[in-house]
Amino acid sequence: MLLTIPAVLNPDELARARAILATAPWADGKATAGYQSAMVKRNQQLPEEAAETRELQKLVLQALGRNAMFASAALPLRVYPPLFNRYGEGMTFGDHIDNAIRRPPAGQGGPLRTDVSATLFISEPGDYEGGELVVEDSYGSHRVKLAAGAMVVYPASSIHRVEPVTRGARIACFFWVQSLVREDARRTLLFDLDGALGGLRKRGLAGEPEMIGLTGIYHNLLRMWSET
Ligand code: NI
Repeated sequence: MLLTIPAVLNPDELARARAILATAPWADGKATAGYQSAMVKRNQQLPEEAAETRELQKLVLQALGRNAMFASAALPLRVYPPLFNRYGEGMTFGDHIDNAIRRPPAGQGGPLRTDVSATLFISEPGDYEGGELVVEDSYGSHRVKLAAGAMVVYPASSIHRVEPVTRGARIACFFWVQSLVREDARRTLLFDLDGALGGLRKRGLAGEPEMIGLTGIYHNLLRMWSET
């Protein structure tokens, strides 16, 4: 499932993030790339240990914590401490698949399996040309360029790339999620069921006996499929 989540960051948070990023110490993005992806990766990143990174991480994690759509779609067990990248003119990241296992910096938890990849856009689409995130799946390729503050989540098992930026700069936050449910198809079913249940609740049907049954099925599927 490739899902767009609107307005993950509110305008105040975006302004705060941009203020921090304006003076942040950008470094070569190859620092966190595996062997294969280092060959096609040309961008900049904030060092994981920088004070600016820590402050931005706190801001993003707080926003994720209140986002019901993210919780329902990703079913997060653990979130990798978010990273921040910048693509200036001519920068790009060719086709690759993200590493299956990531190790956060010391003191931030043990290795994490990357089930879900996320990109949270910080630049406005009008700030740059090119720079689309292109994600391949069995239905073809999806070109993603979202409003500032919006986020896309997609299976970390997908081949993806960032098209060359030809004007301006594209700044984004990206991270991975180890999900309670490893398989994308199962997460998608749970997300669809959760969404349908939410729709019925909004129509005032929460008290119906069938709702108790369907809600039970959601939890029993989650119980069957989740690993903690
Ligand atoms: Ni990637």
